[in-house]
Amino acid sequence: MVVWDLPLRIYHWLLVIFVFGAFITSEWNDRSVHEFFGMAVLGLCIFRIIWGFVGSPSAKFKNFIKPPSKIIAYVTHMLKRKSKSMAGHSPVGGIATIILISITSWFAVTGSISNDGILFEGPFAYLVPSVSQLATKLHQNAEILLILIVVMHLSAITVYRLWLGQNLVPAMINGSRDDKEGPGGRISTPHTIAGLGLLSLCLAAAFLAIMLKPSVF
Ligand code: HEM
Ligand code: HEM
Repeated sequence: MVVWDLPLRIYHWLLVIFVFGAFITSEWNDRSVHEFFGMAVLGLCIFRIIWGFVGSPSAKFKNFIKPPSKIIAYVTHMLKRKSKSMAGHSPVGGIATIILISITSWFAVTGSISNDGILFEGPFAYLVPSVSQLATKLHQNAEILLILIVVMHLSAITVYRLWLGQNLVPAMINGSRDDKEGPGGRISTPHTIAGLGLLSLCLAAAFLAIMLKPSVF
């Protein structure tokens, strides 16, 4: 069964590349490379939020945000090594997804309105000059949070592999797994093309914002 649609998979792997890129370049003196990676993350976050409403069933927020009772029941099953693999996020995977989308969006939004106090301003800093200083502080101080969340994400994937015997990674690459239950990620070809178009549009808009930003000099 199809677990993840193509636009969602492309989004995921681009997110990995751009978040790593933004992280590695955050200390560089030339801010423009950091800006490129960071704004690409912003474009991806906007895509993912829209896709959470109009994407495939497994991408839709309403299908993976579960009440605490379901999450607790799932964790109890997990501890007993009983939990089933499913075509979509598990109740725990659902919360992890919301946290990952929130933290990456947080970085991208605060970055886009921050400044380095000398020569650089994010593309939207001129729109909200009064909060740019605060946004810069919030942007710098969340570094440890991002590292922690990504380490937890990778640890969770390892736990699924070693404790539950489920390898979640191939489905994020080729889209499918043998699961019979869960919302699934199958969508029609026109829907896939529309998703890829939306993804490209969001990235293009983010890069356009860089090109159109007013000069600070
Ligand atoms: C996922 C996206 C992003 C990540 C992970 C990220 C990460 C970081 C980190 C860790 C720092 C602190 C570096 C230090 O303390 O020296 C930083 C600084 C900075 N980032 Fe980002 N960033 C992202 C997006 C953006 C975006 C979109 C922009 C603006 C276009 C931006 C602009 C800046 C600026 C101006 C600073 C320097 C603040 C200063 O030290 O004065 N960042 N970024
Ligand atoms: C910067 C690093 C990373 C970030 C920010 C990140 C972010 C995310 C996000 C947001 C999702 C949820 C997908 C959705 O939107 O529905 C996700 C799922 C997933 N990620 Fe990552 N990811 C990172 C690195 C990785 C790496 C290195 C791997 C592979 C080893 C990986 C494997 C997966 C898998 C298998 C899922 C699906 C989990 C499930 O079945 O519920 N991720 N990731």
